[in-house]
Amino acid sequence: MYTLLKKEGAARRGTYSTPHGTIQMPAFMNVATAGAIKGAVSALDLKEVHCQVQLCNTYHLHLRPGDQQVRKLGGLHQFTQWQGPILTDSGGFQVFSLAKLRNIKEEGVTFASHIDGHKIFMGPEESMQIQSHLGSTIAMAFDECMQNPAEYDYAKHSVARTTRWLYRCKTEMNRLNALPNTINPQQLLWGINQGSVYDDLRIEHMKQIAELDLPGYAIGGLAVGESADVMYHILEVLNPYLPKDKPRYLMGVGTPANILEGVRRGVDIFDCVMPTRNARHGHAFTTEGIRNLMNAKYELDEHPLEDGCQCPACQHFTRAYIHHLLKAGEMLGMRLMVLHNLYFYNTLLEKIRTALDNGCFEQFYRENIEAVSTRI
Ligand code: GUN
Ligand code: ZN
Repeated sequence: MYTLLKKEGAARRGTYSTPHGTIQMPAFMNVATAGAIKGAVSALDLKEVHCQVQLCNTYHLHLRPGDQQVRKLGGLHQFTQWQGPILTDSGGFQVFSLAKLRNIKEEGVTFASHIDGHKIFMGPEESMQIQSHLGSTIAMAFDECMQNPAEYDYAKHSVARTTRWLYRCKTEMNRLNALPNTINPQQLLWGINQGSVYDDLRIEHMKQIAELDLPGYAIGGLAVGESADVMYHILEVLNPYLPKDKPRYLMGVGTPANILEGVRRGVDIFDCVMPTRNARHGHAFTTEGIRNLMNAKYELDEHPLEDGCQCPACQHFTRAYIHHLLKAGEMLGMRLMVLHNLYFYNTLLEKIRTALDNGCFEQFYRENIEAVSTRI
């Protein structure tokens, strides 16, 4: 259940209570695609980097190790040893971005696994069944995420199908939650808004899916080829149509600047591979900007990644050491970078929440929006 605590402009400070704990919002989800944060980070590390909620993927876990296997092992919470909230994405994005040779029909999507090419069918029912086996806290609806730009007529038909799929998701989830031996009989279904870059399609779709009175709504199909300004525009256009008493999730976004802009336009929760992916390439996010630790200027630099940072990496290790580890291809270099970047993202959201609590989010936004995207 979402509780709105405070508003500043369109920005919202709230809480979302789930059977696996309460999420303070705005929040950032830490991406553990195949049940692990990339960079050798386990659930035991996640508390230390102030993670509140983990995101896993239906598509990946269905292919490997298989959702039936995860179910036999007690579900994702037991399997990964993360006891807090877990959101699973439906596969609706990965099928379209990773799988080969896909064929979309009313029933669902047939595609070839990106691992060994074998043929798989996934529709709304299959996606719900897999997510039920995984036992996540929140299951996402099975949708079609179109790449931008998409043709208006294609987008219109795709959105209508995504709406029909949502009804099927809801029916299937109700059935699964009522079965005996369901891993998480209180699993929550969140809907996903689509409509590419077209205001009228976005609004019409949002009105339709709001009628289902789901416990949360995501805005999908953004950060997939359009400019950041178009994304911000869609958030503004949708704002009046998003249920006020439900959390709003901007899928797959984004940079620290995108997050500040998203919160400013009413978004409550985000996920992105950026902190982990950039860490693996040697990029550290800091309040002063982005540092490339591969740079030779760090060879003898005895400062931590960020002065004053309380993350597990910065409390002990120097830029010089991490620079060396990255150059030498040592896994520890990657791990320390990932821990720092996740801590940066999670504490950025903490600072945003504190600013909202104190009624000074606009000031926080103005003081940070430039710096967070600077390369230093
Ligand atoms: N992740 C990022 N964008 C999307 C989207 O549009 N749909 C789904 N299911 N996942 C996403
Ligand atoms: Zn740090």
